[in-house]
Amino acid sequence: MAAGIDDIAIYIPQLYVEASDFAKARGLDPEKLERGLGIGQMAIVDTNQDPACLASNACLNVMQKNKLSPDEIGRLYVATESAFDESKAMNSYVIGMLEQVYGEGTFGHCGGIECKFACVSGSYALYDNTNWIRAGEAEGKYALVVVSDIAKYDLGSSGEVTQGAGAIAMLLNDNPRLLAFDPKVTSTSIKNEYDFYRPFGKETPIVHGQYSNLLYLIQVKNALIDYKRKVINTGLIKLKEGETILDHVDYLNMHLPYSNMGKKALAYLVRHEWRDLPRWKKIIEKIGMDEPTPKDPRGTIESVLADAEFMAKDHQFTKLFTNTEEYVELYESKLSSSLIGSKMIGNLYTASLYLGFRSSLEFEYQKGVNLNGKRVGFCSYGSGASAMIFSGIIQPEYEQVVKDMNLEAEIGPRTKLSLEEYEDLHENKRSPENNIRSANKEFILVDVNTSTESRGERQYTFVS
Ligand code: CAA
Repeated sequence: MAAGIDDIAIYIPQLYVEASDFAKARGLDPEKLERGLGIGQMAIVDTNQDPACLASNACLNVMQKNKLSPDEIGRLYVATESAFDESKAMNSYVIGMLEQVYGEGTFGHCGGIECKFACVSGSYALYDNTNWIRAGEAEGKYALVVVSDIAKYDLGSSGEVTQGAGAIAMLLNDNPRLLAFDPKVTSTSIKNEYDFYRPFGKETPIVHGQYSNLLYLIQVKNALIDYKRKVINTGLIKLKEGETILDHVDYLNMHLPYSNMGKKALAYLVRHEWRDLPRWKKIIEKIGMDEPTPKDPRGTIESVLADAEFMAKDHQFTKLFTNTEEYVELYESKLSSSLIGSKMIGNLYTASLYLGFRSSLEFEYQKGVNLNGKRVGFCSYGSGASAMIFSGIIQPEYEQVVKDMNLEAEIGPRTKLSLEEYEDLHENKRSPENNIRSANKEFILVDVNTSTESRGERQYTFVS
């Protein structure tokens, strides 16, 4: 049975910080943010927004767009890194908000949980719900998978430039207009790691930045090796002499904590895939240097990062490789459109990969590309650490969904924050009612209870 994404909707907070303002305030070269990391603007939440509001707004958008009633939704999953309760699942808050619009008890039949595994949990939620549909348990109903996050790092930390906020709701069914997932090829890797984690009660993560970058690459590569085995064993892709599976994937979407991480990851995976192919000889000749290897090729991530000579040479090699016409052609055709949304909005943790997919659809369509039948690969990564690779085929009816996509219009009018306003919001110095922007046709947070017996209870309202 086919199963996949029928439609997709976003909700992005309208407050933002401009990367150049941010660089100036932190004494950084704006070029590092704009060219080095690929950051343009970072969406920031107002005092009256939390990840549950963002998720509810994205759900409402997708339901209203498709004129769906709650009895057509069988499952509602929320995947997030920004959980604010250790027990009560975020989807229960979302259902509470949606019932303010659709009526009390209207989602009573609907199942679902909150999923956690840093930025990869949305992909596990998609996979589980796809299998719910494939198993024939959906009885013709849709599953709604929502990825929602506020990416927040400590003031002055190296991760502070990679913040952002937003939610994406994906509507799944057995007759998807947008994308049908390839069956039996979803592949994962997993390892107990401390690259990025957020102990109980802490609002911002503890991060080992360079370690997390390299771990991301290794974990995604490990999942890709398994994906390759599965696509070949199932006969989904038949490789001819000298080919790699990447030749059979038209678009690649990477997890994007910042947009240049997508470029970095693509280069790493392509190097891995091309290294043993006849085409590599020509590339090496063009580059004019051999691919470097660490002093201890079987060493740890720490030993590789500490190998300064290797790191410098590898950096040089990557730069030369990513300037070759072979790589540029692949990057422009398979990845570049997916990075536009990330540059405009920033890091969305669980939603970053799906913002990339959403962005790729809009900007490839605008180029006039016929997307019907194109294979899309997804490379998902969550710290802690797990990667998931899967793929799907764009469906003949995709145009019905993609033709009206317009990220700028869907975000709506944006308000640029001064650095002072941003820092006050970041440090929770403003009270919830002291919001900067007026809400319009959306859910907002109105209260978080502080009494002993009901501490943490949240009240939301829909502003019509
Ligand atoms: N002009 C142009 N480019 C410049 C520059 C300048 N003046 N100065 C630096 N750059 C370039 C660097 O060359 C580098 O490019 P390459 O990656 O191509 O080499 C890039 O800008 C970044 O520079 P640094 O690596 O020196 O930056 P940094 O030390 O400040 O750290 C970071 C970058 C590690 C990503 C940091 O922002 C961070 O810790 N972020 C949070 C963790 C994170 O996002 N990790 C990603 C993988 S883990 C994950 O993905 C899970 C998740 O969502 C959190």
